[in-house]
Amino acid sequence: MANSRYEYVKSFEVEDEVMFPNLVVVRIDGHDFRRRLCVLINTLSYFDDDDDYDDVERNMFSEVHEFVKPNDEIALNLMNSCAASVMEEFPDIVFSYGYSDEYSFVFKKTTKFYQRRASKIQSLFVSFFTSVYVIKWKEFFPRKELRYPPSFRARVICCASIEVLQAYLSWRQNDCHMNNQHATCLHELVKHGKTEREAYEFLKGTGKKEKHDLLFEQFGINYEKLSVMVRQGSCILKTQVEDIVKYNENGAPIKRLRKKASIVHSKNIAGKSFWNEHPKLLKELGGFVNDIGKVEKEINRIDSNRSAIQIP
Ligand code: GTP
Ligand code: MG
Repeated sequence: MANSRYEYVKSFEVEDEVMFPNLVVVRIDGHDFRRRLCVLINTLSYFDDDDDYDDVERNMFSEVHEFVKPNDEIALNLMNSCAASVMEEFPDIVFSYGYSDEYSFVFKKTTKFYQRRASKIQSLFVSFFTSVYVIKWKEFFPRKELRYPPSFRARVICCASIEVLQAYLSWRQNDCHMNNQHATCLHELVKHGKTEREAYEFLKGTGKKEKHDLLFEQFGINYEKLSVMVRQGSCILKTQVEDIVKYNENGAPIKRLRKKASIVHSKNIAGKSFWNEHPKLLKELGGFVNDIGKVEKEINRIDSNRSAIQIP
């Protein structure tokens, strides 16, 4: 109702514009896909001894839909395909990275998409991604019924500089590695007779190297030989392809340039060499000047107690 006396309420909308030159990143994450397997690295704190340990197992998306453990490549390919659809739908996204049940989407620096309003952008992304996930389910799991509606949540991360983006990507890829290594160990231990709880206890306090050795020495698994998609996660970039859109009256093809999302893998997505190899990223976001180990820690925000929170 335009010009209504109640229109003043519009000014009560939360202002959440991500100001230029901050870089806008949206991360979506599957809700209750099953936290237990990977996230509780080296800790049992999520399950206190008296917790309803068995209850937590119910209604976890990956369990109900019998995803292969520790990694279901079909489910991961479904996530990748949904992320590619997001990239093709929203031209301002120039890069995305994902693993497990999460995906991060990076906007070009100068984006004016939805006036850079975080709540609008994240709600649009998460609803689009979820719809695509449901629509594509049958294509990836033709013989598996989708037994209840999956849900995802989203958040916007406002990266104050290219170095913060670099630290963000490094953090997510490290998480991918840690979670996958932990899940692989856990799965092998359970397969060889331990209960899940015993396996968690066994892995508590172990580091990367110990897990690597455990897999190799006890289970004959060379971690480096696992598929790149599970070890490194997946990146999506846009490339220009020529599509035939129609044929003219003489039968000659009429071609148009189209942006197509293509999946690539890299051991170090926050590495200078990987990033700087892609001219489109350089143009839209800027290059990585140093390798991640040499990047100064950036103070990201000050919390309510005025203590600095730093990106690791
Ligand atoms: P919230 O995101 O906080 O709702 O928790 P979550 O239960 O979704 O857990 P989180 O996002 O922290 O981790 C994702 C979880 O999804 C992993 O811990 C796995 O248990 C599960 N998951 C993701 N991909 C796969 C897969 O390919 N196979 C199996 N079996 N499980 C997977
Ligand atoms: Mg999740």
